[in-house]
Amino acid sequence: MIQAYISGTGGYVPPEIVTNDALVRDYGVETSHEWIVQRTGIEARRFAEAGVGTADLAAHAAREALADARLAPHQLDLILFATLSPDYAFPGSGVLLQRALGLTSGPDAKFIPALDLRNQCSGFLYGLATANAWVRSGAAKHVLLVGAETHSAALDFSARGRTVSSLFGDGAGAVIVSATADDRGVRGCYLGADGSEAETLCQRVWDIKQRPFIPLDADGNGKVDPAHLWAHMDGRMVFKHAITRMTEVLGRACDDQRVALADIDLFFFHQANLRINQYLAESLHLPAEKVPHNIERYGNTTAATIPLLLAECARDGRLRRGMKIALTAFGSGFTWGAAILDW
Ligand code: UT7
Repeated sequence: MIQAYISGTGGYVPPEIVTNDALVRDYGVETSHEWIVQRTGIEARRFAEAGVGTADLAAHAAREALADARLAPHQLDLILFATLSPDYAFPGSGVLLQRALGLTSGPDAKFIPALDLRNQCSGFLYGLATANAWVRSGAAKHVLLVGAETHSAALDFSARGRTVSSLFGDGAGAVIVSATADDRGVRGCYLGADGSEAETLCQRVWDIKQRPFIPLDADGNGKVDPAHLWAHMDGRMVFKHAITRMTEVLGRACDDQRVALADIDLFFFHQANLRINQYLAESLHLPAEKVPHNIERYGNTTAATIPLLLAECARDGRLRRGMKIALTAFGSGFTWGAAILDW
């Protein structure tokens, strides 16, 4: 039987390190290092420079994942691109990544499908479920799955937006999901969503129910109300639901796979808030060394958090062949997911 496994990982963060102090000093955010660290564990994040977009960040991570899997771009059969900060309203960033990887011209051109996923912090897990289904059905042998975000372009650095702007950073993570006849890889993916909370964490920008979808001033220029322009988040609601849903979906994954939490070697939790993950780890009695994190360095990179962490742990030897791992995420939508893999 065909199984799907992760044959390569890659990660990329832009070079500018923005510490909490730099957020106050250089970006004028009314906050403090103490507030951010105490509430979230975040010490710094990366911001991409103007002129660099989400597909650019993704291309770096994708090239590293391809090299790790010893594959050339033309050996891919599908691109899956998870992001909430796409380069354009349309087309999706998947086709831009295909172009950046050199698949649209020259002798290695290959017009493989490119699919964008709009599942925010759960985007990587929704993508993994999709890649797993394509590979196991025989429709694809190698799938490139990336999560990438350029949050820094859309953060409200005024006092109104500080709860959100203190949390998010830029980055990209990529994996190659490949077919294998070996008994390893993705054992199961479990997803959920609750649209009754769609506006609890959202960035609306426009209202497609209005004519036109963005109000125009007398000169015909679009004018967006700040309440719609910037992301809105009810942090406490998100916090509460994140803990409930991640506990629930992780439990469902373990029950379905007949795996005890104690049998899992490493837990890759979405990096939204170190306090959420510490709370989860404590309530599930997970030893701290089984729950790696990098949020202190990168902040919340949304769809990129899990693949970035996988790539880091694979590089530094914490994540090794034969380990059983669990992934779980929760975010805007609300959407959530979990997966169990034998690495
Ligand atoms: O990927 C999923 C995305 N999001 C999450 O997972 C976020 C989940 N939620 C959280 O992590 C937390 O709710 C936050 C860290 C976002 C906020 O922490 P909180 O303890 O829930 O704070 P709060 O929003 O209830 O605000 C408490 C106080 C307020 O002041 P007052 O009204 O008590 O005087 C805020 O104005 O903290 C103030 N505040 C800040 N102060 C300094 C909010 N943001 C900041 C800030 N710096 N950045």
